[in-house]
Amino acid sequence: MDKNFYITTPIYYPSAKPHMGHAYSSIIADFFARFKSIDDFDVYFLTGTDEHGLKIQRSAEKAGKEPQEFCDEISKTFRDLSKTLNLSNTDFIRTTEERHKKTVQYLWSKLEKNDDIYLSNYSGWYSVSDEAFYNEDEIEEINGNKIAITSKSPVEWIEEESFFFRLSKWEKPLLEFYESNPDFISPVSRKNEVISFVKSGLKDLSVSRKTFSWGIPVPNKKDHIIYVWLDALTNYLSALNYPDTKNTLFNKFWPASIHLIGKDILRFHAVYWPAFLLAANVTLPKKVYGHGWILSGDEKMSKSKGNILDPLEIIEKYGLDSLRYYLIKEVSFGNDGNISQERLENCINSDLANNYGNLCQRVVAFTIKNCEGKIPSKIKFLEDDLKILNKYKKNLDNIRSKIDEQNINFYIDYIVSSLFEANKYFNDQEPWKKKNDQLRLNTIVYTTLEIVRKISFLIYPIIPETSLKALKIFNILEPNIKLETLSNNEYIQKGNIINKIDILFKKIEKNND
Ligand code: ME8
Ligand code: MG
Repeated sequence: MDKNFYITTPIYYPSAKPHMGHAYSSIIADFFARFKSIDDFDVYFLTGTDEHGLKIQRSAEKAGKEPQEFCDEISKTFRDLSKTLNLSNTDFIRTTEERHKKTVQYLWSKLEKNDDIYLSNYSGWYSVSDEAFYNEDEIEEINGNKIAITSKSPVEWIEEESFFFRLSKWEKPLLEFYESNPDFISPVSRKNEVISFVKSGLKDLSVSRKTFSWGIPVPNKKDHIIYVWLDALTNYLSALNYPDTKNTLFNKFWPASIHLIGKDILRFHAVYWPAFLLAANVTLPKKVYGHGWILSGDEKMSKSKGNILDPLEIIEKYGLDSLRYYLIKEVSFGNDGNISQERLENCINSDLANNYGNLCQRVVAFTIKNCEGKIPSKIKFLEDDLKILNKYKKNLDNIRSKIDEQNINFYIDYIVSSLFEANKYFNDQEPWKKKNDQLRLNTIVYTTLEIVRKISFLIYPIIPETSLKALKIFNILEPNIKLETLSNNEYIQKGNIINKIDILFKKIEKNND
């Protein structure tokens, strides 16, 4: 079995500092990356910044800076955010890097050689904010301003000499590809959207611009700048040093397991990108997953709308893992989700402080008092114990396949119900009434500790830092977190001393005024 996993986030525009939407995509990608790594996969997790094009050039001009200097500064805030979010990314790519430029120009030459590129003239509507061309039927006029219907961003008319990519030629091959790879576009609702767009007819795509300079020049035609989306999408290959196929990175990790993106950029990833790759004779990625939007009120949270929630402020106030848990749990994955501070606080209090935190503290305190602070050695499982323990073993393969379907909602529900069940088990078994039956008391303690261990492994991809804090009870370190061990019911070492741990989550005091 292929035990390599390559996951990517979009590379974000460093046109303004990062917001909650960017944090969301990155956290979700980190969740998958960490899950796969504890399931013994070799993981390549890529994120980065998309730095060329008119949008960035204009933002730099507005800030009174040279584009490179401007990008250096803002790209750094994205890189810093990836640290603040505790992302396990392997790489952070910037499209202004030499390694990337080389790959883009190589890919261009390949498309040209295969006769997929020709020179002509473009005239039509363009949104600089989306860096996208729109057909007449994709725009509307509001208060005298022309805007793109889907993104609501302003469009302008452009007319210039341009290279074109023969997108129309790939209409049929794309439809055939979607047909024979039904999982390529997820979720299903998005897939249908893409298929009907392609079926409505693909026009050749303008892939170079002459009226600005901030970008990668077309090889041997330096007055043309390569279209920023052709440039940006190629980051997924340049990070693996393509076309150096002797290099192990490309051979090992391509095709990508999943490009995780927001639904706003589905067309680029599910139509243009596979068409470029088909034309260049490169294997297509296995999956493009277009998640929903974080809304603020009823609108997409975005820089241009100015309705952003700053992830740094939320993290400062509630802690990173609270935010990670909340976003993963409360935004039903695949759909749009509204987020609110109140729901975040409820989540911290009920799931994190009451359910998980309390379970850990309770069993540790009880062990210290009643088992000499050690993991009990003499135990004898009864049916009740085995029933709750064996559940993890029984569900292991199911959990894996749900993750391969990106069913995060199942995963989080599984954890929440396991936490309830664990607390209920401890309450129902009433170990405090078993002081005359040390064997039974020991077995209940052992079982509960073993469940804390199992749940902490499962919760690691969601809240890694807190999971590691909890696993200090057993002196278990990060490299020892292996999903496979969920099927072992006697994993924690009998007789070992257990450690007291700090409070995992503080309850938020709520005043209802
Ligand atoms: O599109 N809710 O960059 P970008 C959820 N550079 N996710 C959101 C979001 C929201 N409100 N707002 C943004 C670009 N995102 C290109 C990508 S890839 C080769 C080039 C997330 O800075 C989501 O993943 O506009 C979305 O697709 C991405 O940020 C867009 O980021
Ligand atoms: Mg955007």
